[in-house]
Amino acid sequence: MSELIIKILITGSQGQLGNEIKDISSEFNSLNFFFTDIDTLDICNKNAVSDFISINKINFIVNCAAYTNVDAAETDIETANKINAEGPKILAEISSNLKIPIIHISTDYVYDNGTQNIPFKETDKTNPVSIYAKSKLDGEKNIALNPNHIIIRTSWLYSVYGKNFVKSILNLSKEKETLNIVFDQTGTPTYAKDLAEVILKIIRNYNLNPQNLFPGIYNYSNEGVCSWYDFAHEINEISKNNCKIFPIETSQYPTPACRPSFSVMNKSKIKNIFNIEIPHWKESLKNFFFNLSNQ
Ligand SMILES: NC(=O)c1ccc[n+]([C@@H]2O[C@H](COP(=O)([O-])OP(=O)(O)OC[C@H]3O[C@@H](n4cnc5c(N)ncnc54)[C@H](OP(=O)(O)O)[C@@H]3O)[C@@H](O)[C@H]2O)c1
Repeated sequence: MSELIIKILITGSQGQLGNEIKDISSEFNSLNFFFTDIDTLDICNKNAVSDFISINKINFIVNCAAYTNVDAAETDIETANKINAEGPKILAEISSNLKIPIIHISTDYVYDNGTQNIPFKETDKTNPVSIYAKSKLDGEKNIALNPNHIIIRTSWLYSVYGKNFVKSILNLSKEKETLNIVFDQTGTPTYAKDLAEVILKIIRNYNLNPQNLFPGIYNYSNEGVCSWYDFAHEINEISKNNCKIFPIETSQYPTPACRPSFSVMNKSKIKNIFNIEIPHWKESLKNFFFNLSNQ
């Protein structure tokens, strides 16, 4: 099977995931990337998206654009819905008409979290409780308007780029002698670099043989399970900061948006279909620190 010339549009590329894709893009020399963000291509601007795709002869899309401020979404409902649900609809409709595949990123928060304590499968019931999570589920439904879609639900994303839990704990643990972190929310961190690699492997597979797209919904996080407290504890251990971390309950740290108590995902589907191995979150966290120190 001869390789296609893949011209990939990456939206939201100045975010955590988009930047990680950019960092490793040179390792995938059969792929030709077009990195955009809201300043160069607003996914909510239908004409701009349509023009960009036709002018640049795009034949694959990865949507990393999103409204990711979970707490702000509770009051900024319109913007969250616009970026997380309407933007994906525009991308899906245009790409579907042109028969272009799309990879879209969603969240563990779409599940009926808090009702079970075994890892969620892609077929499990959804029941988002926050505005952010609802907007992301609507985004998934809209993306599915393109039959050639891959939706990857990920969780607790962090990167050397942007703001995230790891960097916050790292900074706070330098400044403070003690930190109180919730221990009754369980999930799995995801190093965005690992997710970026999986996304580009999926596209490379498709490039080798378009039959290898395998559309559908997939869960992806690192392996293992932890609470935010365990995660913070590990960050503090690796960084060797002189800070004591104490476990607290969610009720002692109220936030505008409701967070799930359990959001661990089963990753068998993505591992089996795309033949990938997933690193344990502790291993990836060490890699993150290595990459951060080499920045
Ligand atoms: N972060 C997490 O913990 C987490 C967890 C689970 C799932 N996810 C999902 O994973 C994906 C990637 O997350 P991330 O952490 O990499 O997000 P991020 O760092 O917030 O990046 C999103 C990027 O999209 C841009 N953007 C916003 N509106 C746009 C628009 N209308 N058109 C084009 N670009 C726009 C943002 O620009 P501005 O910064 O200027 O707004 C930002 O550069 C998202 O779909 C997110 O929902 C994230």
